[in-house]
Amino acid sequence: MRTALFPEGFVWGVSTSAFQIEGATDRDGRGPSIWDAFAGGGYGDPACDHYERHPEDVRLMRDLGLAAYRFSVSWPRVLPGGHGHVNGPGLDFYDRLVDELLQAGIAPYATLYHWDLPQAMQDAGGWTARDTAHRFADYAQVVYDRLGDRVDTWFTFNEPWVAAFLGHASGVHAPGLRSAADAFVSAHHMLLAHGLGLEALRARGAAKAGVVLNLSPVLTPAQLGDMSSGIPEEDAEAVARIDALHNRQFLEPVLRGRYPAELLPLIEKAAGLGHIHDGDLDLIGRPIDLLGVNYYTPIAVQAQPSAPADPAFPGSEGVLFCSVPTAVTAMGWPIMPSGLSLLLRRLAEEYPETELMITENGADFEDVVTADGIHDVDRISFVEEHLRALRTSIDEGARVRGYLLWSLLDCVEWADGYRRKFGIVHVDFTTQRRLLKDSALWYRDVIARNGLGAERPKRPTLETVAARAGVSRATVSRVVNGEARVSPDVRAAVLRAVQELGYVPNAAARSLVTRRTDSVALVLSVPRHGGEALTSAVVQYVTSVLEGAGKQITLMLADTAESHRRIIRHVEARQVDGVVLVPPDGPDTLTERLARTGVPVVLLGKPAIASLVPHVDVDNAGGARAATRHLLDRGRRRISAVCGPMDLVAVQDRLAGHLATLHEDGLRPMVALAGLDSESGAAAARELLSGGQTRPLVDAVFATSDELAIGVMEAARERGLGVPEDLAVVGFGDIHAASCTTPALTTVRVPAADQALALARLLLSRLDGRHTSPVVLPTRLVVRATT
Ligand code: FCB
Repeated sequence: MRTALFPEGFVWGVSTSAFQIEGATDRDGRGPSIWDAFAGGGYGDPACDHYERHPEDVRLMRDLGLAAYRFSVSWPRVLPGGHGHVNGPGLDFYDRLVDELLQAGIAPYATLYHWDLPQAMQDAGGWTARDTAHRFADYAQVVYDRLGDRVDTWFTFNEPWVAAFLGHASGVHAPGLRSAADAFVSAHHMLLAHGLGLEALRARGAAKAGVVLNLSPVLTPAQLGDMSSGIPEEDAEAVARIDALHNRQFLEPVLRGRYPAELLPLIEKAAGLGHIHDGDLDLIGRPIDLLGVNYYTPIAVQAQPSAPADPAFPGSEGVLFCSVPTAVTAMGWPIMPSGLSLLLRRLAEEYPETELMITENGADFEDVVTADGIHDVDRISFVEEHLRALRTSIDEGARVRGYLLWSLLDCVEWADGYRRKFGIVHVDFTTQRRLLKDSALWYRDVIARNGLGAERPKRPTLETVAARAGVSRATVSRVVNGEARVSPDVRAAVLRAVQELGYVPNAAARSLVTRRTDSVALVLSVPRHGGEALTSAVVQYVTSVLEGAGKQITLMLADTAESHRRIIRHVEARQVDGVVLVPPDGPDTLTERLARTGVPVVLLGKPAIASLVPHVDVDNAGGARAATRHLLDRGRRRISAVCGPMDLVAVQDRLAGHLATLHEDGLRPMVALAGLDSESGAAAARELLSGGQTRPLVDAVFATSDELAIGVMEAARERGLGVPEDLAVVGFGDIHAASCTTPALTTVRVPAADQALALARLLLSRLDGRHTSPVVLPTRLVVRATT
């Protein structure tokens, strides 16, 4: 790895928000906010008690060398009723904070709305009421009048998407409403409030003003696998729609003064358009000085006609939200630094005039407090990788002026409470003691150096350990997490590799295990004639065994090229832990494509091309040997094979077993090719039986399927030949009809239920990370009256 220094004057900082760190929710005249009401009074206490401890926190920031600190002002602390009475002590707090920051040489960046609406405003309709936007502008003025002489960078809103849609559509955030209409209307009123607030700030002389958006690249599972691949045509509309809902709903009004065309029908359908007044978009689209970009993780989607809308994305019917196949943070957010580069490239292309700042980026990982500190290597790696991505984007022309890490302190993570650890400074919530994590010290060095140093000693990765132990990454992950479901020898091999390589498990190792979906795809190709019984046995038994093991089964039909693509995408997106595949009879590309996803796959039947995918098969050659030997034992010497279709591997194996047995006895083979059904067996047999004058040239037929054997018997009857006196017949498969023929058919029984059960067990072994080899089940000759 190389050094990556940042441009001169690049701003290094951290971000926090009022409700998440201040505590003191009922002190000095603060009014209740929607978060107090939503989560319960006292939920925001003590938080980090920053209200009292801000001098200490500012000292910490100074010691880290931060150039900027983005905090938010609590509206209910300043205006307890939302408007009207100004709470002096509340404003005094921010006044002191700003002074301390300036004294410490840290530039204060103020965010006016980071989700803590005064409850009194909510009681008057909250963001669904247009008036709230005007009250916001009044509040902006009050704050500016007090701090504007010292704060020169202002953000109106933090992440309006979250406030509007998680707050009003999915209801997981305050105020906890579940109405698509309310969400769209609120989003518009927040945009309007941004416009009005911006106008108020500007009128009073604010130097720099902007807004902070949470932006995520929207990708398809195929793109996640290969960033250079384009958007599959069938997913293009789904991607554009989610991008419009999540990103462009805010980018376009703010930076272009318009809503994206494809969004308007969605808004109209849910909420009408009456709330969007003439002139609103002009106001919203007034130039800003700085766009704050919060980036954590990408969004992955694909078209799925039957998918219902995601509650947080009203209008997303027919779009499947996919998981991203990569390591995740403790929050479960996929880690994808390249997503930041994609996002910045796109912003640079579409809004080249806009100055950007990364206003949030960071990660929740579980920390372990040890006697010698908190060695949060995962957090360091996360930030380092994102900084490298950022540096590359700046090289490519993205106009990014600074990076503000989320967050300074472990704090209240909204609905998730105190268990999330985003801080580079640990907070003991009982004693309020602060403790710098390794990431804080590391960040201090980054700031001092204005970038990243040369390579840190390379740690062995999960991949290295997996390769050394000869097992999958998931197995290593299971072993290092102490899961019981690993065999002793595998565990020993992994632990040996861990020790030899000096491997320290990181987030990737841990999260792979936690990312189990406990679902399995059962992929069925349409069986050709004759395969239905086996397919239905597979459905019945595989389902019952896997369900018994706690797996959910997703049945997927692989009948068209399009369905193949969907299945691959589903698996690539790690929507399942494993796949049971019943491949098509003919040429099969699905097996290898599925195998390449890295998800465990097991296969019914031996594949045509040698493959590493473990399969369950039956001993076709052995069955054919037994059948042929049986005919020989009965004194038959002129034995013909009626076989087909020859593209089936099972048929090839049966023929091979038959020929080998004849060869052992020095007999000449005779082969008549047929297709699938009894009619084609009869046709092939008619040819065979037509030779010879008084008696036919053959005295026995080995048919590679019962269907063909039934056709052979039909042809014998036509020629007036007795079975078995003149012609002995053996079939293969022991289908139900075999025992109902007259005379009843001698055949080779292929165990359907056993294959299905073995298939399910093979997958469970693979999911447990055990070594698996093909399973070949014995066949059995069932002697009946035709021989
Ligand atoms: C962002 C919020 C911030 C914090 C981080 C983890 O969406 O702006 O308050 O919750 O996520």
